[in-house]
Amino acid sequence: MSNGETTGSASNARAKTTPYGRAQRYGDEELKELKEALEQGTLFYAQGAKVRRLEETYAGMVGARYGVACTSGTAAIHTALIALGISPGDEVITSPITDMGSVIPILYQGAVPVFADLDARTYTMDPRSVEAAITPNTRAVVAVHLAGNACDLEALSAVCRKHGVPLVEDCAQAFGCTYRGRAVGTWGDIGCYSFNEFKHISCGDGGIVVTDDEEMATRLRLATDKCYDRRSGVAQRNPRFLGNNYRMTELQGAVALAQCRKLASIVERRRRWCAELSRRLEGAPGLLLPVITPGCDPSWWFYMMRVDEQVYDADTLAQALGQEGVPVGAHYIGTPVYTYPIFTEGSAFTRGHHAYLDREYRAGMCPVAEDILRTCVILHINEGYTEQDLDETVLGIRRSAAKLAGTGTL
Ligand SMILES: Cc1ncc(COP(=O)(O)O)c(C=O)c1O
Repeated sequence: MSNGETTGSASNARAKTTPYGRAQRYGDEELKELKEALEQGTLFYAQGAKVRRLEETYAGMVGARYGVACTSGTAAIHTALIALGISPGDEVITSPITDMGSVIPILYQGAVPVFADLDARTYTMDPRSVEAAITPNTRAVVAVHLAGNACDLEALSAVCRKHGVPLVEDCAQAFGCTYRGRAVGTWGDIGCYSFNEFKHISCGDGGIVVTDDEEMATRLRLATDKCYDRRSGVAQRNPRFLGNNYRMTELQGAVALAQCRKLASIVERRRRWCAELSRRLEGAPGLLLPVITPGCDPSWWFYMMRVDEQVYDADTLAQALGQEGVPVGAHYIGTPVYTYPIFTEGSAFTRGHHAYLDREYRAGMCPVAEDILRTCVILHINEGYTEQDLDETVLGIRRSAAKLAGTGTL
């Protein structure tokens, strides 16, 4: 490997000289599975073999007893909350830095999203803030393993156990991530994953939930299928609770199954690249590198750094990196979820009263999350990134940081 820290330091040329490598997502493996799915003569999950095999395969991969496939990561979290019996007026604690997919299901259950603050360097939910947010109305915690880094699951599950609150893990960004040697998604009561187009593995859109609890697995299945019980081979249409139609088709199941076989290699390549990136960025002026949660082996969905605002700001760094040909996004989702109009204007529904309207959502609620978003830049990661990409990224970042900090050294 050449030394990105020193090569080209005196040159005015952009650090990044060629486009970043990209791995081919889909290929012969997916085509073979798709062909087999079509040849079954049915694309319905309860009649074909692909979704069932995906569920068994994925549950086996993470070490869970049961898997239930569904249509998206959002659907996976909704399925979990339905199965847990989350009801109107209940409170559900989650992260202020996440995709709306973590929050939409809470609102659809008529429940109240409550936001816990984050750890400043791991960007995951601070268990102390979660505990402080628990009230007699708290019925679940939806923990978000942001960017492929695990929450402090030991502390978080201890808090949930202590208060008798179920723990749902949102692993949409954390396929392949482990905590103390065990897959994330298997620490709580239910683990939820997304197969959307941008995740580690994908089938275009899709999701899966895992659990060790047989009764919960039955409820999860019913929650994805209008509460119709098909275990006897014939749909029993006497729903006992409100489910949804979140059924995965055999086509999605086929592609997701082929993708599962690629996961270990995808995660391995991301780990290697990002570990090296962190090692070589160490000491760059003004940069706060991501801190891995102790006990976690992360799977790096993206690489999020923060800047020391005493030295330079995130927008200036993003601009400098753009000029180096190393595109990064400043501020990730912009502002915390609770500052979206849906919360500040109470506009989730057009008419009628919803329990979340009784709560005030405003800037300042989670100061650490707000600091993170104000000072962060995100580098997208792909398992197809090469050694050259690494050298040039390191050069671009170190050179920009040195220039903005006025240190003159890389
Ligand atoms: C943390 C998190 N949770 C949930 C979701 C929702 O997943 P989907 O887009 O598959 O509904 C996403 C998607 O980006 C996510 O990043």
